[in-house]
Amino acid sequence: MKAIILSGGKGTRLRPLTYTGAKQLVPVANKPILWYGIESIVAAGITEIGIIISPETGEEVKTKTGDGEQFGAKITYIVQESPAGLAHAVKIAQPFLGDSPFVMYLGDNLVQSELDLFLEQFHAANLDALTLLCPVANPSAFGVAKVDEQGRLLQLVEKPKDPPSNLALVGIYIFSPVIHDAIAAIQPSPRGELEITDAIQMLIDQQKSVEARQIRGWWLDTGKKDDLLEANRIILDTCLQTNLQGEVDEQSQIIGRVEIGTGSKVINCTIRGPVTIGKDCHLENCFIGPYSSISDQVTLINADLEHSVILKGATVEGIHHRIVDSVIGRRAHLKEAPRRPKALRFMIGDDCQIELN
Ligand code: DAU
Repeated sequence: MKAIILSGGKGTRLRPLTYTGAKQLVPVANKPILWYGIESIVAAGITEIGIIISPETGEEVKTKTGDGEQFGAKITYIVQESPAGLAHAVKIAQPFLGDSPFVMYLGDNLVQSELDLFLEQFHAANLDALTLLCPVANPSAFGVAKVDEQGRLLQLVEKPKDPPSNLALVGIYIFSPVIHDAIAAIQPSPRGELEITDAIQMLIDQQKSVEARQIRGWWLDTGKKDDLLEANRIILDTCLQTNLQGEVDEQSQIIGRVEIGTGSKVINCTIRGPVTIGKDCHLENCFIGPYSSISDQVTLINADLEHSVILKGATVEGIHHRIVDSVIGRRAHLKEAPRRPKALRFMIGDDCQIELN
């Protein structure tokens, strides 16, 4: 069994954060989204992983993620020259996949799934395709499935105006090698992409054994700011453990589950967990409230924030109002003059310079 993770594509929905970086590397609780997928695949016992990358952001993905050793996996990078669709990504991964069955994982999805359980079911029932589903309030934004009582897939449609059910396709699929024949036979969709939903629909039409299971845990498609904040909240709630490696002075108060990385200094701050703070940060005279993730090399002075994500190298200085529900991009600089507005709510991209006068 092998796996591919799709980490190419355009990443338009998380702009401006993804103007300068891969959306799959945006951190949730200080860990790139992509790495959760890798860990989940390795936990299910698969160690041969191909990662699909784009020419624009691929180098960053490669440099950051490496050859897989840190995950106990062997990673092969496969460049997709243009984002020609999920099925196109499988097509170019065929030399890597050979005739092995495989898991296909969308690199911008966060799923609390028991992948090993679904793999067992795939093998036990000798399936050609197993897709995972989750009921959602806005099915038109996803691939949507119609299933019968036995869990057999009857129909799949990509982003339908008139959805046949509320069951969205979660970004995890398990395939036998017959999917390659189906992909070879489909044509690009009206939006110009080779759709994996069309290839699966072809398997259904050919009476292959195609089934679907509903996941029981949470699933977060981290496409937008609020999804990212929600993913951050859930991961901090469920996974964060106290781990204080940085320096915390005697005037500071640490309450609840808080992680502080090496080389970070916390001076006269109150930090109320769950909060994660990366390496080499400087925090002085701050209140950091629950559900905040602060990446490496961040400087926060005289700042008050909660339920926010601050990316690497950002500086927030002298902001006298609480910053809430905000995402602040890499190296952004936020500074307030002595008089300022009442409420502050941000989506600030990489490299921004913001002063409130
Ligand atoms: O999130 C679940 C949804 O993911 C499913 O419900 C849909 O059926 C499925 O088509 C997909 O829809 P998205 O619009 O979210 O797909 P997106 O373009 O965001 O691509 C998903 C991942 O695959 C992302 O990490 C980028 C990567 N990708 C995408 C394309 C189109 C590639 O690596 N190559 C590609 O050509």
